[in-house]
Amino acid sequence: MEDLATDGDRIIVDIEGQEVAVFRIKDEFHALPNFCPHQAAPLCEGELTGRMVVGDDGWEWEYVQEDEIITCPWHGWKFDVTKGTNIKDQTIAVPHYDVEVKGDNVYVIR
Ligand code: FES
Repeated sequence: MEDLATDGDRIIVDIEGQEVAVFRIKDEFHALPNFCPHQAAPLCEGELTGRMVVGDDGWEWEYVQEDEIITCPWHGWKFDVTKGTNIKDQTIAVPHYDVEVKGDNVYVIR
């Protein structure tokens, strides 16, 4: 758990030959494969950012989903870490694994 002590932390581990990233976001844990469905880049080594949307008045921008969006380091596809879905095309997604915390340990359930 010490590797995931603060929000925004991530670790990439090998589970039975597959790299899986575990993220800590807003005191919750999310796990995704370290694999981009576009051309197989190490997706979870990309930048973790948020997303901006236009407010109701059509002029002001609002920062939402802070630190919940992972950007693929090769071609920039963006995925919602909390769901595994591509933010532009919801039909594209990576698995979002269940995570269980027991004491100081975080378990990925596949
Ligand atoms: S390999 Fe990830 S966007 Fe191309």
